[in-house]
Amino acid sequence: NNQKRKQVTEGLELLTKFYHYLLTTAKYGSPGMQYLENRGFSAEMIKHFRIGYAVDSWDAVTNLLQKRDVNLEQMERAGIIAKRGFDNKYFDRFRNRVIFPIFNMRGQTVAFGGRTLGEDKPKYLNSPESEVFHKGSILYGYHLARQAIRKTSQAVLLEGYVDVIRAHQAGVTCSVASMGTSLTEAQAAALTRMADTIIICYDSDNAGIEASFRAAEMLQGNGKVIKIAKMPEGLDPDDYIRKFGGERFKSDVIGASQTLMTFKMGYLRRKRNLSDEGDRLLYIEDVLRELTKLNRAVERDHYLRLLSEEFSISLDSLKKQQHQLYTMVQ
Ligand code: UTP
Ligand code: MN
Ligand code: MN
Ligand code: MN
Ligand code: MN
Repeated sequence: NNQKRKQVTEGLELLTKFYHYLLTTAKYGSPGMQYLENRGFSAEMIKHFRIGYAVDSWDAVTNLLQKRDVNLEQMERAGIIAKRGFDNKYFDRFRNRVIFPIFNMRGQTVAFGGRTLGEDKPKYLNSPESEVFHKGSILYGYHLARQAIRKTSQAVLLEGYVDVIRAHQAGVTCSVASMGTSLTEAQAAALTRMADTIIICYDSDNAGIEASFRAAEMLQGNGKVIKIAKMPEGLDPDDYIRKFGGERFKSDVIGASQTLMTFKMGYLRRKRNLSDEGDRLLYIEDVLRELTKLNRAVERDHYLRLLSEEFSISLDSLKKQQHQLYTMVQ
């Protein structure tokens, strides 16, 4: 089984080289290169992330695999090639797509994400789960971000492949992606193992904002600081950096990220009219109710103090009221 995994990994390494060769060879790769250049990705990042291009052909990869004596059934299970119904012949699954190799923690290719150059569906064609690829246990970009994460004890969590590449290009090298909006327990564990501060910067659409609350709740605990970064409506980190530049991303997005609780307080605040006395009391209750979810006394205390100062209410009565709410939700 170990032997088998090794063979698959070797096959995927061969393909990583092949796709990258195709992309960087003008005769084959110009549609892909044109696409990446239009999106403003640097040659350095293309190399760093080993980005490639699958040519518009049904058999370029199949032929290579045959010529190199790679086990075709294994490559079929890894989702690289598929079998045609009518004559049982293999054909290439990735055609005319930009190829993002997906690496495991050790930097070995375990899967590919292939992006259409146009509007085809799916936007990203991904390798299926296989003996070497468990999507839920991988953070895209992890092995390239590890050093920066260790050094700063901070990690930035993004949604997509291109967000990570763009962030690295802008110098935010502690960035990784969950590859979609649903963070898994395994990904959360990998993040909290490495970093003391985790900043979630998902796409600024409804799906992304809701998912960042879920992710934050999942990451919370373990004595870590979890923050959420905000961007203008509709943008993702890649869009933002293209539009406003890396420096503003660092200062106004990453630098201005807020703890989950502060973020939620802002949200609860906007629902109320704080110049109204009744609303003020409701807001305080809202916050106290949220605070019962925090399991660290120090953290709870910090926000109770903020409330106490802002509304000139004694810490003591806030605590009493919170205790009442706490026994109510139990
Ligand atoms: P998004 O839809 O936000 O795409 O999906 P994106 O990363 O901004 O891509 P661009 O900028 O249009 O190229 C976020 C992530 O979700 C996964 C991918 O990992 C993607 O990077 N995804 C999305 C898929 O796996 N398949 C899809 O069809 C779409
Ligand atoms: Mn695995
Ligand atoms: Mn998205
Ligand atoms: Mn996006
Ligand atoms: Mn995008």
